[in-house]
Amino acid sequence: MENQTKHKPWAEPYKIKMVEPLKMTTREYREEKIKEAGYNTFLLRSEDVYIDLLTDSGTNAMSDYQWAGIMLGDEAYAGSKNYYYLEDNVRKYYGYKYLVPTHQGRGAENLLSQCLIKKDQYVPGNMYFTTTRLHQELAGGNFVDVIIDEAHNPVSDHPFKGNVDIQKFQDLINKVGAEKIAYITVGAPVNMAGGQPVSMENMKQVSELAKKYGIKVVLDATRNMENAYFIQKREAGYKNKTVAEIHKEFCSYSDAATMSGKKDLLVNIGGFVAVNDWDLFEELRNMVVVYEGLHTYGGLAGRDMEAMARGIEEAIRDENISFRVEQVGYFGKLLKEAGIPIVEPVGGHAVFLDAKRFYEHIPQIEFPAQKLAADLYVESGVRAMERGMVSAGRNKNTGDHYYPKLELVRLTVPRRVYTQAHFDVAAYAVNELYEKRHTAKGLKMIYEPKYLRFFQARFEAL
Ligand code: F0G
Repeated sequence: MENQTKHKPWAEPYKIKMVEPLKMTTREYREEKIKEAGYNTFLLRSEDVYIDLLTDSGTNAMSDYQWAGIMLGDEAYAGSKNYYYLEDNVRKYYGYKYLVPTHQGRGAENLLSQCLIKKDQYVPGNMYFTTTRLHQELAGGNFVDVIIDEAHNPVSDHPFKGNVDIQKFQDLINKVGAEKIAYITVGAPVNMAGGQPVSMENMKQVSELAKKYGIKVVLDATRNMENAYFIQKREAGYKNKTVAEIHKEFCSYSDAATMSGKKDLLVNIGGFVAVNDWDLFEELRNMVVVYEGLHTYGGLAGRDMEAMARGIEEAIRDENISFRVEQVGYFGKLLKEAGIPIVEPVGGHAVFLDAKRFYEHIPQIEFPAQKLAADLYVESGVRAMERGMVSAGRNKNTGDHYYPKLELVRLTVPRRVYTQAHFDVAAYAVNELYEKRHTAKGLKMIYEPKYLRFFQARFEAL
């Protein structure tokens, strides 16, 4: 008999062995808590959150294989065997020659920025990431956005909205000269654009142009396995390649990578910088002892490196990465079908609500995305994150607010943590809020830290 179900269903490629209970709270309780937190979801206590979609960073559930690896931690100060295993796996799956572990991604960004950027140089990139840009600026560089225009448009359905605009990159070279460009960063996929992927073809073009002028290409490989999955699904010629093959080919067009292991690699802490150039490696290896720890642990315990090395092997398998991205897609589809304004196409790690359309009546200077994240918490106990004006910060030269085109709320999906039912509940809550959107009011910022203000800024309701 023919199967009457329209789509072949999917399910988690794992079963659950240990659970962590969630606390249910009342609306009155949450109203009080968000006020105490200055309407900033980063300042809530996690025990007051029901479904935590703040981030996919370090919030992953590790497997039994990873937990078993934790017991094999070689906690030697120097030359831990876990380091060598991680080095082997980075070579095998990423293809870079040399590895420097760091406590997380921003540790890697700090080292690389300090080693490669000279004062007043330019650092082009396909949209900024908060910590990446700040480290570039602290090292004396000026970030220049060279992403394609479609990335700034939440309704464009370009399949590779994370692509670098090759003409913008060329124009920058013509304008300032190649020697004033420290390197180009390619983030794949692009977190701030909504988790939008970069095509292999585009990465090749970036690499060719950069090579012609002797400019290094640095990959932010944080979620590059998700990017590889999108290439497999969307780009001609990759359908029959494995995610592992695509991922390694993509890395091959770069000279170096910074990595936050807290995402793709299914761990709670860890990162690295990996390079092909011996001289740069020597400098990084020297610098890491100043900021992180010896070059064979870089701020991590041996067990953390073991879990990350094992995480690479698990995450990259086709069935795991496809489940990961398809679960995010399922959540996005629920919201889209309910008519909620989201960024499309849905990216690899999160669904982004478009606060400019959701709260049309709230002007950007009253922080509609910040308010939407706060309202969603009060409505349902679901925690999300602002990715708009507060995250964008201020221009380092003029001190003025940036007014980014994208004013978003990110509902981020931790890996292997929540089930389909949790996303049904979260989508229902967003819908409830959408139905009464006209009654919402904006916020006023009353405290603003100097760096990465979104983490600790405080607001008052208008
Ligand atoms: N690059 C990208 C693309 C990221 O998303 C992050 C972190 C980093 C670098 C920095 O890595 O946190 O390990 O120091 N993103 C987290 C997020 C914080 O929630 O998106 P880190």
